[in-house]
Amino acid sequence: MTRLQKHMLASDLDGTLLGDASALAGFAHWTAANRDSLSLVYVTGRSFESVVEVVDESPLPEPDAVIAAVGTSIHHYPGGEVVEEWRNRVNDRWNAQAIRRLLRGQEGLKLQEEEFQSEFKVSYYAENVDSPKLGSIDRRLRSAGIDTEIIYSSGRDLDFLPAGMNKGSAVAFLADCWGIRQENVLVSGNKGNDRALFEQGFAGVVVANAEPELKVVRGAKIHHAAFACAAGVMEGIRYFWEL
Ligand code: GLC
Repeated sequence: MTRLQKHMLASDLDGTLLGDASALAGFAHWTAANRDSLSLVYVTGRSFESVVEVVDESPLPEPDAVIAAVGTSIHHYPGGEVVEEWRNRVNDRWNAQAIRRLLRGQEGLKLQEEEFQSEFKVSYYAENVDSPKLGSIDRRLRSAGIDTEIIYSSGRDLDFLPAGMNKGSAVAFLADCWGIRQENVLVSGNKGNDRALFEQGFAGVVVANAEPELKVVRGAKIHHAAFACAAGVMEGIRYFWEL
């Protein structure tokens, strides 16, 4: 994958670029006018197939690549081919079946539907889980030899990913592959599974409608937008890139 364009926008979809139709139309318009100098990547909890559907059915511009399943798979667009170098980074202590087995029957956890599970992501519905409970789940998995990233979003979604794999590390990997410097990457998001995007030193915009768990991120290069959804992303683009 070689791409030597200057700026890279790596954005979440649901609740970030998606959620306000007229703001999305504005973003699509801006993207069309700036496509030549922009690498566009969607970084989402969705599957690749579900991203293709939403791109086909909405004004969402076609991206250059998709980081799906909360950072655990990187796909070329539109073909969907998986970037093997990323896939090969999964550590040998990842075991989706063992996670499911160990957490079966755990109070307050309900496995999400199979369409939301993938090779490197095990997801549950878990209402209002607090940090001590997350800590005890983590200890339980560790004592069984499983090392995971545990990501909690929207007071509802609990994801288990291979250690070292998340939205942020996937974007850093892709920017590196494409020769895009860290200071030319802008990330945007609205919830807990986007938090890792803000931990790589990239410029970042938190949209106004963000969940409380993302509203708390702070940093010199993090902008909390006054506007919601795609209008918040556009605000971040203007703020950081002066375009
Ligand atoms: C998306 C995925 C879901 C995941 C959530 C939070 O909604 O479909 O499986 O739990 O994002 O990452």
